[in-house]
Amino acid sequence: MKRLYKVAELPFIMCGIVGYVGAGTAAPILVRGLKRLEYRGYDSAGVATIAENVLLVEKDAGKVDELNAKLSLDRMPGNIGIAHTRWATHGAPSKVNAHPHTDCTRTVAVVHNGVLENFLQLRKELIDLNHNIVSKTDTEVVPHLIEDFMKRGMGFEEAFVNTVRRLEGSYALAAICLREPDLIMVARKEAPLIIGVGDGFNMIASDMTALIEMTNQMVFLHDGDAAAVRANGYKVFRVADGQIVERPVKTVALTVEMAEKQGHPHFMLKEIFEQPNSLRDALRTQREYVDLLAELLDKGRVVFLLGAGTSYNACLAGSYLFSAVARIPSYPVIASEFVANYGGAVGADTVILAVSQSGETADVLNALDFARMRACTILGLTNTVGSTLTRVSRAYVLQNSGPEIGVAATKTFTSQVLVLAQIALRLSRLRGKISQFEMDEFGHELSKIPKLVEEVLLTAPAKVKELAETLVNSPFLLILGRGMSVSTAYEGRLKVMELSYIPCIAYPSGESKHGPISVIEEKIPVIFVAPPDEFRKQNISSIMEMKARGAKIIVFGDKEDEELRSLADHYIGLPKTHPLLSPIIYTVPFQLLAYYLAVLKGYDPDKPRNLAKSVTVL
Ligand code: F6R
Repeated sequence: MKRLYKVAELPFIMCGIVGYVGAGTAAPILVRGLKRLEYRGYDSAGVATIAENVLLVEKDAGKVDELNAKLSLDRMPGNIGIAHTRWATHGAPSKVNAHPHTDCTRTVAVVHNGVLENFLQLRKELIDLNHNIVSKTDTEVVPHLIEDFMKRGMGFEEAFVNTVRRLEGSYALAAICLREPDLIMVARKEAPLIIGVGDGFNMIASDMTALIEMTNQMVFLHDGDAAAVRANGYKVFRVADGQIVERPVKTVALTVEMAEKQGHPHFMLKEIFEQPNSLRDALRTQREYVDLLAELLDKGRVVFLLGAGTSYNACLAGSYLFSAVARIPSYPVIASEFVANYGGAVGADTVILAVSQSGETADVLNALDFARMRACTILGLTNTVGSTLTRVSRAYVLQNSGPEIGVAATKTFTSQVLVLAQIALRLSRLRGKISQFEMDEFGHELSKIPKLVEEVLLTAPAKVKELAETLVNSPFLLILGRGMSVSTAYEGRLKVMELSYIPCIAYPSGESKHGPISVIEEKIPVIFVAPPDEFRKQNISSIMEMKARGAKIIVFGDKEDEELRSLADHYIGLPKTHPLLSPIIYTVPFQLLAYYLAVLKGYDPDKPRNLAKSVTVL
């Protein structure tokens, strides 16, 4: 199937927004749009319309149908409106945190998808100017900024553009204003935004699914674009200099189901391809919370990194990072083993950083219940605001990955590792154990990660698919790595095994001579995770050992390492990164391999058998 986007412009959606201006009544169309956006799983929703010179706003926590029954959203009057379904990133799901947000005078309403990095600074400025900010969200600064510019004499359009120029971070924004009751202003940066062109109406949305029922004529805005959208037309211009730009109207021939997956056949593939952007949002993790976590970790005499499944594999990577970057020893521990293995030895001087995408995994919460009774300090890293983990943690950080629908964790793993790397760097700065040069270099490499993953997604899929074709009938797979790559090998094993149902084992390659090598016979596939790090020589020795026993050698290695390439039957060349960040780059081909193996075997990669997205039983 033809994909709709190039990797570099892949849309990444956390919340959903939709807007309508035209001859019809906006609200029922908006509510149907919200329903279409709900497939991603949302926690709150709201609608704003303008009717008879009044700005009407209805919103609350809950699902669209529940809210519609309670608030009669679809009966709100008016020919213009904007609406939002929320996946919380700042502030728990609640009425006050739900969008649309308004200004002090209730003249402007705004919906937003994305993460604003400088909202704390903007919020402070606005509070100093006596604005009444009521929510915990990053978005609420936007209507107040627009209000402020309008107070200084600007019209709505000019005030909106000036506001957008002050924002740092990612956004798809839509705003309406009482002063111009036939105009929706929108802008985008690193979050998708589409204009749906209709006959006698126009719409805007973050996702084609919200438009497809009304029109298949769509204009895909680019980063840095803004648009003024009215019932009878629209203009697109650049935020930076106001210059009008032409964006073609495309005819989209997709069913709703295809649109939900953005042209990909499965959610898992869509989520794999979202990683450059989800990683960008992981880099936007709020600095003050990362600092707080680092301070609390630094106070512990004993540090545990605790998780289950993929999140445990991220903990393993985290423990290497904490040691190498921050010089802090930590124990990575599988949540269900924590009490039996360490329960007798923890107390008030123990700090536990629990990593859980859902924040609801029973094994994790059970371990934390035990630890709380022993007065341990609990910290959290999660993707889910308002989850139990956020409630039981003394402090937590959010990984900002957006909803993950595929049962197998993909983008949430790479983001967990990236956030753990940021925590390690903050810890290192606190403790001053490595040189300023090393810290700066590591920070620089961190910022390059999204681009490198983009490169992997442009270059690797076809080769990994070919590899999958050669492995599809393998009875078994061995995956080996050394140092940091042990976590990659473990995560690769989990992905391949849970999706293709091919039994896999993964080992630190130094251990293979202590047992696993006995399974090797002619043509048994062995995947080596071999980034260009200090273990290159040992990796080559391990490869030779396996080669001598007839194994089929598959290497995930540096794209420029010709010697390593020459030793392999299959070689997947990957871009260079800091060795400690290699799990983020080197896990991506495993995700793809697992995906292609599942598809080749006729299994559903989105719903592997016997597994659930959130395991809430012990
Ligand atoms: C594997 C996978 C699971 C989860 C595990 C923990 O692809 O998704 O192994 O990683 O169930 O879930 P969270 O991170 O929600 O605690």
